[in-house]
Amino acid sequence: MRFSLLFFVCCTLMAWCSRLLPQCAAAAKARHFKWEVSNMFWSPDCEEKVLIGINGQFPGPTIRAKAGDTVVVELKNGLHTEGVVIHWHGIRQIGTPWADGTASISQCAINPEETFTYRFVVDKPGTYFYHGHYGMQRAAGLYGSLIVDVADGEQEEPFKYDGELSLLLSDWYHESIYTQMVGLSSKPFRWIGEPQSLLINGRGQFNCSLAAAHTPGTEQCTAGGNRQCAPVVFPVRPNKTYRLRVASTTSLASLNLAVGNHKLTVVEADGNYVDPFVVDDIDIYSGDSYSVLLTTDQNPSSNYWVSVGVRGRQPKTAPALAVLNYRPNRASRLPALAPPATPEWNDYAHSKAFTYRILARAGTPPPPATSNRRIELLNTQNRMDGHIKWSINNMSMVLPATPYLGSLKMGLKSAMSSARPADTFGRGYDVTQPPANPNTTVGGNVYVIEHNTTVDVVLQNANALAQNVSEVHPWHLHGHDFWVLGYGDGAFLGDAGDAARLNLKNPPLRNTAVIFPYGWTAIRFVADNPGVWAFHCHIEPHLHMGMGVIFAEAVDRVGEVPKAAVSCGATVTALMAGDHV
Ligand code: C2O
Ligand code: CU
Repeated sequence: MRFSLLFFVCCTLMAWCSRLLPQCAAAAKARHFKWEVSNMFWSPDCEEKVLIGINGQFPGPTIRAKAGDTVVVELKNGLHTEGVVIHWHGIRQIGTPWADGTASISQCAINPEETFTYRFVVDKPGTYFYHGHYGMQRAAGLYGSLIVDVADGEQEEPFKYDGELSLLLSDWYHESIYTQMVGLSSKPFRWIGEPQSLLINGRGQFNCSLAAAHTPGTEQCTAGGNRQCAPVVFPVRPNKTYRLRVASTTSLASLNLAVGNHKLTVVEADGNYVDPFVVDDIDIYSGDSYSVLLTTDQNPSSNYWVSVGVRGRQPKTAPALAVLNYRPNRASRLPALAPPATPEWNDYAHSKAFTYRILARAGTPPPPATSNRRIELLNTQNRMDGHIKWSINNMSMVLPATPYLGSLKMGLKSAMSSARPADTFGRGYDVTQPPANPNTTVGGNVYVIEHNTTVDVVLQNANALAQNVSEVHPWHLHGHDFWVLGYGDGAFLGDAGDAARLNLKNPPLRNTAVIFPYGWTAIRFVADNPGVWAFHCHIEPHLHMGMGVIFAEAVDRVGEVPKAAVSCGATVTALMAGDHV
């Protein structure tokens, strides 16, 4: 009797719990991972180099969990001479800002031979990834996929599919990240150039083409038995629907993905459902993730190419190719059709048409109707004592020795010293010309955000240092999803015009948004997640050159920070004095 009563109470609780609070769904589990990061020899594009792998793998192991699960990663730093951290890109870290994995911001870099444990809840189904967030370690290969499925007993995804294919896209340089970083900070500046290869799931082919038969004059690839750079094959059955989970962790390249003869239906962006729409190809910027549905409705006697090419920069990197293998055809059977061509690199009308179609699926929470604060961030390329920098409102971001989460929470002077950055750059800046005054300074770029305020950010692109150059920048926010309220060409007109034309009806929720050349992008978020959050361009060399800001959000409301996260720099002295964080 007592047992059955207990059973009844439990069941009722579980049912109640999973209905009202998906994050405490009955089946929520802790998923444990033990990882060691280390340098290793690897041949991502058939040329052997040294990269950063995890547990002897590149890309790192895939994390697969269900919404509501707690992911626990015990991360050992097996690099001999440098620290490491890992950021869980797209996971909002609600209530656990110290697990965000940003060096100098949310935590101290983990020293060689030391272990740090990341523990966080993955609260929302979707396609995510993780990557290094210290120096340029992401570009050295420190990344992998993180996929969150719908919790047991929850409503299913609002679309049907028979199988799933995962495409983690990246780009790859033959020069080490140290050579790259020294070049970026040298006088004179030495640009790293374009990547040598594009990779799909960590594999590419340098200086040869899998589709040589279609491109006379190019050499046919022979992986020579090297499995590390063997072509990626996606086996499918005819007349089925597949969910392609596509994410980009590129260092530099903006990408476009197409599958020969197949249409793609976009259903998810950055872990949020979008109003489905059909396209021939998708653009994907660094930091973006998408789910697209593909139906295998083509001639089943053939295989088809999956092609990934460069957007937004004059492409000097060959497209990455993979084979969509209609079973039971042999995987080695080369597709009859040539790989789909990437749209012209500077066909921005094509890119905008795609981006503007991304709208929230019905049922997505709408944004608050008004905001409490608007921060306008002008993106410029500048000079500083012979160095080249990227700056925001004429301030190029540098990171401190002591992570902000510790120093701000403890009120340490060192973190306070830097002047508050400006909320606006003023009207009248000519975005069509190189900066009239190209000089910049460096700073912390820390914006203090009040708890529960609604914040609008307008990212304003401009002309770079050289005449007639303005680049694409994909901006990524930590700790939040935001609504993308609108895009425009030229200077944002503010209350005089553009502010009134923003989309408050069905703006998509995302964590990454692009600014087009000479254009602006407006986003809105609610500051309901106390922490210290990075907001930056996801292009690795741009971030390294200062293209970012910090949102210090209601830091007084952050719970007790694990000492292991902030035991370095000035917080150590304060901790020894007996304070707690
Ligand atoms: Cu995926 Cu701060 O970045
Ligand atoms: Cu950028």
